[in-house]
Amino acid sequence: GKNVGILAMEVYTPRTYIAQSALELHSGVSPGRFTVGLGQDGLAVTGDAEDVNSMALTVVHSLLEKYDIDPMRVGRLEVGTETLIDKSKSCKTVLMDLFPNNPDIEGATVVNACYGGTSAFLNALAWVESDGWDGRYAIVVAVDIAAYARGPARPTCGAGAVAVLVGRDAPLAMIDPRERSTHATNVYDFYKPDHSVEYPTVDGALSQTCYYRALEDCYARFCDKVDALNGVVDDERRFHADAADYFVFHAPYNKLVQKSYGRMHYVDARRKHARRVADAMVRGGDTEEKKDDCTPQDVAGGNPLADSSVKVSPSPFTDADLTRPIEETYTDRALENTIKSVSKSSYEKRLTDANVTSKVVGNTYTASVFFGLASLIDRAGGRGDLTPGKTAVVFSYGSGAIATMYRLHVREPTGAAGCGGDDRVFTIGEMVRNLDLTRRLAMREEVLPQELDLALETRARMHRGGAPYSPVYPTIGRMFPGTYYLNGIDSKWVRSYSRV
Ligand code: ACO
Repeated sequence: GKNVGILAMEVYTPRTYIAQSALELHSGVSPGRFTVGLGQDGLAVTGDAEDVNSMALTVVHSLLEKYDIDPMRVGRLEVGTETLIDKSKSCKTVLMDLFPNNPDIEGATVVNACYGGTSAFLNALAWVESDGWDGRYAIVVAVDIAAYARGPARPTCGAGAVAVLVGRDAPLAMIDPRERSTHATNVYDFYKPDHSVEYPTVDGALSQTCYYRALEDCYARFCDKVDALNGVVDDERRFHADAADYFVFHAPYNKLVQKSYGRMHYVDARRKHARRVADAMVRGGDTEEKKDDCTPQDVAGGNPLADSSVKVSPSPFTDADLTRPIEETYTDRALENTIKSVSKSSYEKRLTDANVTSKVVGNTYTASVFFGLASLIDRAGGRGDLTPGKTAVVFSYGSGAIATMYRLHVREPTGAAGCGGDDRVFTIGEMVRNLDLTRRLAMREEVLPQELDLALETRARMHRGGAPYSPVYPTIGRMFPGTYYLNGIDSKWVRSYSRV
């Protein structure tokens, strides 16, 4: 196999952040609304001195520097973003300043809400996999500044960028590129039709339902595909929610990820029940005693087997739960609690590592799912748990809506395949050292919640301000070394950047 996948990764998030507890006080909402209600601890903030071009320049420059990548050895560079600066000129072209002697680089910018980065990533994988590959590296950049108008969505702002180096013989590889499934549909849950503002038009409740629906659809099809590829037919060996070592989800806010994660367990139970009913119909038998979707230990509130008068029925779900139209179940609180208790320990084991960064950085749209991967590498990799054979299932969702689920495998690179046409070997350990994520996040500066309003006002002014324009938001003195910032926009709308 070519073992195409992730060779290296770099992330960037602004040095300034706001604590959600302070934002609760500042916004006059009840305490706990953002910290407990949304499950978020902080959000990265930046004003008009940074834009997605500068953030992409920062993260790609740093990737090239930390991993000592020769810019001539890059043959594809593709960006995913939904924070559009220009309706024609792509962010990718701005990044070409980092490749001054190498104009022979494919790729452009891909747009579809939070999904553009994943689309760019799949394109890069396909290029490296193909006969068209010229032996060089691909770089995928996912970058966004999540900015919302005042109101309930504002605490889900955030900002960040991720650069991913893609090649063959990867330590984190899509070993079988067919192990993936997609859910694409036409919905208006979150979109940006108003060009006079940077903010989205968003139906929060609908966006949650669309996210659930996309996850369930991708997950069910993913299970079927993986089983078909492995020739699995008997129930006990089928792919299920506990069959991956780790999951990484697009994370608009932590509460949604927690709730969604549980729904994979619910889908497992529904599918198992449907198979039992179908089998029983073939045999002409009864399905009643065969509900063993979950072990008794999984059921919160004690072991029903302990009381001999209780009918043995270890599934926490009723037949009605498992057969209702799934749309009816999204607002059922009792069912939500059951799903939560069934999946809680699995969630803690498989998904909390990936969520650590998004909880303190906020939503980073296209970059969110890659921040999840970086977080997993930093934490599980840092503990030495990302050993060969381990798997991570990734779920990427972009409103509108397009979503994909795919599986990555941890493996020992052989050094034989030539990742980017040379003999270099990339490892998880090198990623852990270079990401250094926990320490870097701890070095950030907490700023007052008023700064979120100020930062967004400066961004809004830049957005509608025309040209020429000079940034006013005072972050330059507070940036991490190596950060690019916007000098200004000249009278011909040309943007220029400098590096701290
Ligand atoms: N203490 C504890 N919990 C609280 C408190 C409190 N003081 N106040 C409210 N809550 C809980 C609520 O009970 C609710 O809990 P639940 O999730 O168990 O139902 C939770 O906080 C959220 O409150 P809601 O009133 O349901 O929603 P809210 O008005 O806070 O808005 C929303 C949340 C819709 C997510 C909003 O932030 C939004 O529109 N965000 C942008 C859209 C988005 O991110 N969608 C996700 C997918 S699309 C994408 O990635 C962009």
